[in-house]
Amino acid sequence: MMRRRISPCAREHILVRGRRLARLQWWWHPSRLLWPSLAPRDSADVEGGVVWKRKDVSGSCLAMVETLEIPSPADFHVHLRQGPMSELVTPHVALGGIDLAYVMPNLTPPLTSAQQTVDYMAQLRAIAPHTRFLGTMYLSPSITLDEIRRASAAGIRGVKSYPRGVTTNSDGGIEDYEVYFPVFEAMQECGMVLNLHGEIPSDTDKGVCVLNAEPLFLAHLEKIHAHFPQLRIVLEHATTRAAVECVKRCGDTVACTITAHHLQLTVDDWAGKPLHFCKPVAKMPDDRAALREVIREGHPRFFLGSDSAPHPLAAKYPSPASRNDSTDELMLNCGCAAGVYTSPILLPLCATLLESFGALDQLAAFVSEHGRRFYNEPAEPGRVVRLRRATPQDAPVPAAYVHSSSTDKRDGDPSKLQVSPFFAGQHLGWVLA
Ligand code: DOR
Ligand code: ZN
Repeated sequence: MMRRRISPCAREHILVRGRRLARLQWWWHPSRLLWPSLAPRDSADVEGGVVWKRKDVSGSCLAMVETLEIPSPADFHVHLRQGPMSELVTPHVALGGIDLAYVMPNLTPPLTSAQQTVDYMAQLRAIAPHTRFLGTMYLSPSITLDEIRRASAAGIRGVKSYPRGVTTNSDGGIEDYEVYFPVFEAMQECGMVLNLHGEIPSDTDKGVCVLNAEPLFLAHLEKIHAHFPQLRIVLEHATTRAAVECVKRCGDTVACTITAHHLQLTVDDWAGKPLHFCKPVAKMPDDRAALREVIREGHPRFFLGSDSAPHPLAAKYPSPASRNDSTDELMLNCGCAAGVYTSPILLPLCATLLESFGALDQLAAFVSEHGRRFYNEPAEPGRVVRLRRATPQDAPVPAAYVHSSSTDKRDGDPSKLQVSPFFAGQHLGWVLA
């Protein structure tokens, strides 16, 4: 085949993605000014699914891509709550461009039995019939080996471990992992996934705080993996370079989710800013760089788990003092619920952020292929979600989503159920087409 001249801009675009060099040269088809939807592709490229369409040859490299098609995006870690909050947020999974939601079990009470989890999935399906929901159970002393087998037979895919007291509804969480080794053995046999919240509880006497709680947890991950090399484990919402390196060192049965917000935030962004406060907290700039690098690199065991965690605005900005209903005493309240809410904007947000650090070509891998492969959940053939570049006419991200039983949507009354999303009031670079 005759070699064609490639514009300097296109050449630069190709070179920054060293691993994809060969494929992109093959795709490059200047006569059509297209990347590469009409150019020849092998089956892996089709599975990759990003359709690169080129509009303006003279513009910047990033401006070249105008639309994207992502095969059936999946979010492998999301909180969908109960009651009115669940009614409000469950439809937002699809609104954010996501087809499959792997749902967390930290409800009140937590989902500790197969039946509770099955019932909860049915409730979610009743709210959003077109979204696929996969369930997890909450690891607790009440989970027997028989319960694991029942859960597996009922299609429940994982068991989530929360260390005691580190985050929302984790009072019944884990203090000692070894006592659960028989449960892990049964999970390994059934092919269930162990989802780990990777922090140890803060303890100032022992020098443990939110900044080192994740690196100090990694020894537990390595120990569990060493004992159960065939057990599929996901280290959830990694925030540190140490975690990325640890997961890479482990075998193919260990994977890792990364949230969208941890690709953007560092410590300075949540200190004093409740809407950005979550667990694990965002860490140092070098940690964020490691999360970005592993996505840019296209490592197949790292994928999207948004940890989208809605809390009423009133719980993110609690009033400083309130009366105890039963004693009428005045109580001071300076707490702030942990959680960043990204569901309603998730896919456009991922596109915007990945593009900001030169990883847009990994979007389909990150939000669909890698996680689906690990969980053995192939995308429905032909199902794609389309994105287009945002224009100045596109609305910014809403300041808040308000439950429909709140009558006045402009009302700032904190007693009404409303949730503020990440990027509230700002413009994203991409929107659903
Ligand atoms: O920030 C968080 N919020 N981290 C978690 O692990 C739980 C979540 C929630 O449920 O609110
Ligand atoms: Zn979570």
